[in-house]
Amino acid sequence: MIDSIINEIDKALKVLTVSPYPQRSRPDINLKKSDTLTPQEKKNHSKYMRVNHSGEICAQALYRGQLFFNKNKKIEEKLEEAATEELDHLAWCQSRIKELGGRTSVLNPFLYLGSFAVGSIASIIDEKYNLGFLSETEKQVSSHLENHLNIISPRDKRTIAIIKQMKKDEESHEASAKLMGAKELPSFIQKTMKFTSKIMTASTYKI
Ligand SMILES: [Fe+2]
Ligand SMILES: [Fe+2]
Repeated sequence: MIDSIINEIDKALKVLTVSPYPQRSRPDINLKKSDTLTPQEKKNHSKYMRVNHSGEICAQALYRGQLFFNKNKKIEEKLEEAATEELDHLAWCQSRIKELGGRTSVLNPFLYLGSFAVGSIASIIDEKYNLGFLSETEKQVSSHLENHLNIISPRDKRTIAIIKQMKKDEESHEASAKLMGAKELPSFIQKTMKFTSKIMTASTYKI
């Protein structure tokens, strides 16, 4: 048990402090280098990407929390696979924020802790609800990314390419959770999750 806790602390510190190395190239790799964005657009878009980056920090913590008490090998494999894809998202968001002249959120350590706790609780309650929680999270993240696609200036093709690929990945995470037997969460939990994510989105946009 002590070993697992030390391992988790190590993983958390890495996610929070080290720039992850992506397994896949950034989706905008083939686009022209020059951006024709106004300073205001750059500022706004860097904040949207900060929100997305914090979402990916939460995703890492949720997966780690869900894996902590999980004993099902098949679920473990799928969670590990999705967590690796999420690491790409984390790296892409981080580098795009830098290019736009922004910074990541100071709230990330707290978000990690909270999400890890929520993930662990979900995995203790019930295996199918654990998957249901995952599927609902991915669904809400996809719709959040869709909102960003609607408000980001179409001139920012780089950010758009990154978000589109992230959305595609989240949709496939949702589908695979459903395939493994995810149970639909009670509507009050879905609403609480939406409410929590609104608070998280608004606060990381600011700080
Ligand atoms: Fe993601
Ligand atoms: Fe995902």
